[in-house]
Amino acid sequence: MLPFATRLQNVETSAIREIFKLLGKPGIISLAGGFPDAALFDVEGIRQASQRALADKPGEVLQYGATEGYQPLREQLARYMAGKGAQVDPSGLIVTTGSQQALDLIGKTMISPGDKVIVEAPTFLATIQCFRLYGAHLIGAPIDAEGVKVDELEKLIVEHQPKLIYLIPTFGNPSGAMLSLARRKRVLELAVQHKVLVVEDDPYGELYFNAPPPPSMLALSKDIAGSRDWLAHCGSLSKVLSPGLRVGWLIGHPELLAKATMCKQFSDAHTSNLAQATANEYLQMNRMDDALSRVRPAYAQRAQALCAALKKVLGDGIDFSAPQGGMFVWARLTAPRADAREFASQAIERGVAFIPGTPFCRNPDHATLRLSFATSSIEKIEEAVARLKA
Ligand SMILES: Cc1ncc(COP(=O)(O)O)c(C=O)c1O
Repeated sequence: MLPFATRLQNVETSAIREIFKLLGKPGIISLAGGFPDAALFDVEGIRQASQRALADKPGEVLQYGATEGYQPLREQLARYMAGKGAQVDPSGLIVTTGSQQALDLIGKTMISPGDKVIVEAPTFLATIQCFRLYGAHLIGAPIDAEGVKVDELEKLIVEHQPKLIYLIPTFGNPSGAMLSLARRKRVLELAVQHKVLVVEDDPYGELYFNAPPPPSMLALSKDIAGSRDWLAHCGSLSKVLSPGLRVGWLIGHPELLAKATMCKQFSDAHTSNLAQATANEYLQMNRMDDALSRVRPAYAQRAQALCAALKKVLGDGIDFSAPQGGMFVWARLTAPRADAREFASQAIERGVAFIPGTPFCRNPDHATLRLSFATSSIEKIEEAVARLKA
């Protein structure tokens, strides 16, 4: 047995990965993944963008690059964020290898063993794992369909004096919840009042079904004096363009960015220049709006089909709020003593996979589960719910 670092004792292999191992079984319909639908990727756009990237400056994009990111992409991302109402100087963001790396860099730079961190209950599993690896003591804040309950959040801040608060305000993973405008502003006020860093993780904000969500907390921070200093924002092209590009970014206080850049230097030196230049060319080609106008209705129809089937077929046996965007329905089995882990094993036998809610919370409600509608056709979704009924 190798003498592994003690920090590994804080984390265990993700339950999700265990379920993914079973997905290869023939005939399984998966509502388990958090992947975007590969059939909706703008392959032609990305092909053109990568060709341009290589044609224009091959020496530069195949070379080592700056840790902060490929400068034309930083400028392009600043414009992209401005289009979403957030004013950011290109020097005020660093490009990361997916937003997952931004989260890791926040963990590395901010969390010492024993530090308290408030997260939504439930929240993104990889963040739980990552922050625990750095020794965080996680505290779950309750949520409803409008996101984190701000009065409860304030009580937890006062009680625990956390090092930071991590939120996915728009179409959370796994909750699907959307933090209301009023609550977004309140969170920013709390950050200033209690001098606590709020991390806004926003990979799903563009995947809305009908009306756009409220502006990001980053965009709103201009209206709440001092709040920009207490806010970090993680963005990503993964869910809107392609996760394989591994292009994300981190926006935050210059001191946070300086420390994160230092840590990134000895992590991966920089994000792939070829990927960054491809992303830059893609954004320049103005194809994103078209791509999103294909993705949004496809996900909206699948979400609608899943919610309608759950209501019609499982009726009172399951409780959930229909999401207004993103990729997930967070649901709860209503039968007394229902356990979604057991239900998940039985469901796999019947040929349908989903993720039980247990790993997404520190004090889990075992009756909860996450259903992803992003990658299955409407027919498959309806068949999956029929199998769940069986
Ligand atoms: C809430 C959330 N944050 C961050 C990520 C990481 O995405 P990426 O590293 O591909 O940008 C994901 C991916 O599933 C996610 O759901």
